[in-house]
Amino acid sequence: MQNLFFNTFFKLLITFIYRSKKNHHVIFLFLWLIRYQKSMKQKILITGGTGYIGSHTVVELINEGFEPIVVDNLSNSSADVLDNIEKITGTKPVFEQFDLTDKAKLDAFFEKYTNIKAIIHFAASKAVGESVEKPLLYYRNNLVSLMNLIDCQLKYGVSNIVFSSSCTVYGQPDVLPVTEKTSRKDAESPYANTKRVNEDILHDAIHANPQLNGISLRYFNPIGAHPSALIGELPLGVPQNLVPFITQTAAGLRGELKVFGNDYDTPDGSAIRDYINVVDLAKAHVVAIKRMLNGQSKANYEIFNLGTGNGYSVLEIVKGFEKATGVKLNYKIVDRRAGDIEKIWADTTYANNELGWKAEATLEETLLSAWKWEKNLRNIL
Ligand SMILES: NC(=O)c1ccc[n+]([C@@H]2O[C@H](COP(=O)([O-])OP(=O)(O)OC[C@H]3O[C@@H](n4cnc5c(N)ncnc54)[C@H](O)[C@@H]3O)[C@@H](O)[C@H]2O)c1
Repeated sequence: MQNLFFNTFFKLLITFIYRSKKNHHVIFLFLWLIRYQKSMKQKILITGGTGYIGSHTVVELINEGFEPIVVDNLSNSSADVLDNIEKITGTKPVFEQFDLTDKAKLDAFFEKYTNIKAIIHFAASKAVGESVEKPLLYYRNNLVSLMNLIDCQLKYGVSNIVFSSSCTVYGQPDVLPVTEKTSRKDAESPYANTKRVNEDILHDAIHANPQLNGISLRYFNPIGAHPSALIGELPLGVPQNLVPFITQTAAGLRGELKVFGNDYDTPDGSAIRDYINVVDLAKAHVVAIKRMLNGQSKANYEIFNLGTGNGYSVLEIVKGFEKATGVKLNYKIVDRRAGDIEKIWADTTYANNELGWKAEATLEETLLSAWKWEKNLRNIL
């Protein structure tokens, strides 16, 4: 929006000066200098930038004056997202479609785009259940992608990287809430293990190459959509995450919502998670990038929990959605799902104090944003 406003204002000003014909050479030069300065924005490579969290982060980076360059193989997203990012921000991000496991293509990318200041690495396969069935796909995609990126960081002199980690690295913790110091447990799924091993790869690569800086952001459960309802979570096939399953059921795309397990050791028997609004999450990435670029990191490798600090059960989310939207959900309790843990929520004190960032949106606002996005997608009034 900021950029749309700037571009329109800029064009109007140019036309006005041209027509007034007074000292217009000097003024022209001045304005082009401003334009040039604007074009010297800091370039940030966003892998997986057409995906759910990536696209919201691209919007926030543009809003904050960065130049995101998006790379995605579109295995779990669509290039249409770029048009919607343009509708929101007035800027269509540069996009390159290729697979990060293809080292030759990644090299060609860094030859073409020089002076990249930082990378935010979202691209990964992310479905816990699928990873149990197809572990090799998960290990290959998630580990090779990061290793290729770090190789290129060293080769092309890109110091900074933010890595999308996950609370799944804590496994089922003994004590709740979890802080960044809570020890990681054995992973409950191949997906979770890729996050754990990727954190180790990043830690060890940075230890061996002190010119690198990294931040692992351990997301809890991102939900919701941009308030414009132009971007949001768009899973291919049956949703693996709760909220898109809820909104697709409410929209009539799914006959019933499956609630996986009601015999967990929780007050209502369903699993508990810490649900964080995706725009709040996206903003934390901008903070992390600025922290590294401004030399504010306290160590070459840092870890932050990104959550709200509140745990909600699956059934509480179902009821919360019904209350917020007035739409009744048809749901059925089924067996527990392989790879799911019982309960987790974050202690966000460290991230709040150290990053000066806090999740702001309420659960109700967030569920409403998810529903608005689904309705917009399905042309439901
Ligand atoms: N959504 C969640 O609940 C959640 C929770 C914790 C962590 N994370 C992590 O956050 C990151 C982003 O998640 P998301 O929900 O936005 O997922 P997403 O699937 O919407 O986005 C990931 C994007 O990466 C792309 N991609 C995958 N493999 C690629 C490859 N080899 N080369 C190029 N592009 C590739 C996909 O096409 C997709 O657009 C992932 O690393 C995920 O593991 C997500």
